[in-house]
Amino acid sequence: MKIAVIGTGYVGLVTGTCLAETGNDVICVDINEAKVKQMQNGEVPIYEPGLDLLFHRNIEQGRLLFTTNLAEAVEKSQIIFMALPTPPGGDGAADLSYILGAAKDISKLITEYKIIINKSTVPVGTADKVKAVFVENTNIEVDVVSNPEFLREGVAVDDFMKPDRVVLGTRSEKAMKIMADLYAPYVRQGNPVLFMDERSSELTKYAANSFLATKITFMNEIANLCELVGADVDAVRRGIGSDDRIGKRFLFPGVGYGGSCFPKDVQALVKSSDAYAYDFQILKSVMEVNEKQKTILVDKVLKYYKNDIKGKHFALWGLAFKPETDDIREAPALYIIDALKKQGATVTVFDPEAMENVKQTIGDQVNYAKNQYEALENADALLIATEWSVFRNPDFDKIESKIKNKVVFDGRNLYDLQKMIDLGYYYNSIGRKL
Ligand code: UGA
Repeated sequence: MKIAVIGTGYVGLVTGTCLAETGNDVICVDINEAKVKQMQNGEVPIYEPGLDLLFHRNIEQGRLLFTTNLAEAVEKSQIIFMALPTPPGGDGAADLSYILGAAKDISKLITEYKIIINKSTVPVGTADKVKAVFVENTNIEVDVVSNPEFLREGVAVDDFMKPDRVVLGTRSEKAMKIMADLYAPYVRQGNPVLFMDERSSELTKYAANSFLATKITFMNEIANLCELVGADVDAVRRGIGSDDRIGKRFLFPGVGYGGSCFPKDVQALVKSSDAYAYDFQILKSVMEVNEKQKTILVDKVLKYYKNDIKGKHFALWGLAFKPETDDIREAPALYIIDALKKQGATVTVFDPEAMENVKQTIGDQVNYAKNQYEALENADALLIATEWSVFRNPDFDKIESKIKNKVVFDGRNLYDLQKMIDLGYYYNSIGRKL
């Protein structure tokens, strides 16, 4: 099939590349000329495991092209994916100007039937708004389909190639048939392609992310309670997770959820509920609890040092909001750094992928180490904010030779409690005994 993908951000690039991988001809469009040049030269602009291979293979075989020329991409394609940003506007509700702007541009270019697909996370009713733009500007028939994306950063290629489900919001038989064919190679194992109306599809995306954010937040609160009552959250997690209705996944407590999706989507769902005069209480609590959880390690540090960390120096392992990404949007590590600095402490950081992004964001507010051990030099304590595999089994002799005191505040529960006791550490983790 002939496909255009408008927007080569995270979702657009993965979508375009993975659609080319099953033999489609894909043209990716972006207004950022430098980025388009970079991609034309075979450079992947984001860090995403497995993407490189597919990206290069499909470029080499001429199925994946990059351009700034929207008109050309629209003309050559029957299916047009919009993967454009929906940042929170001033009032926290999603800003649709990119999407509606692109819809207007496309509407003025089309000369024959097209399917326009919303891949971005958009508030309920956006498909109708996009449709209205076309009705206003052209007589050519289009179908506007809502097709939310559920891929996770770090495993995005796998998530796209083998999705748990594909959700498609459209009531057009013609669009349904074409979309079912397009996605057939991705659901060969029998995972469902779920057709529904546009509004249900749009809400499904927010409901999924908000539910997952709630699940994590619930576990974070259970973990906090565990510490108070002397229980172990690992045991409680296993105890509840083996009930199929609860499930084992997404029950790991930590320093709060971050990233470009959960915080934004929970907030947007609350906002749009407000707009319908519905008070979405549970999500408001989720937001509040998560805010506190992001600096829970700092609370622990302050308690340990009796509220005085002026002049103390800390090592921080992990900056990305989760492993296998260089994304630091809403990363708890940034909140931790900020809180430590406000209390007069200094920080040296290390992350396997996100150092550059942090440098660009907060510059010389922290020191940057070349590796995880160098970060420990002269540190009064080590804090861990991201569960990168490389932190899971460190050389404890090396740690001991660098760090001033054997004190670890672990926001991701990476180490065995008994092991840390045997090694002589003060080890404070989340929801577990001291
Ligand atoms: C999330 C969803 O999982 C995807 O399905 C969705 O497509 C995506 O948002 C999106 O809307 O684009 P992502 O933000 O990449 O994906 O990351 P997740 O792996 O879901 O993690 C989100 C946050 O939850 C991270 O901060 C992570 O550390 C935290 N988390 C996750 C926990 O604290 N505990 C867990 O058990 C799981």
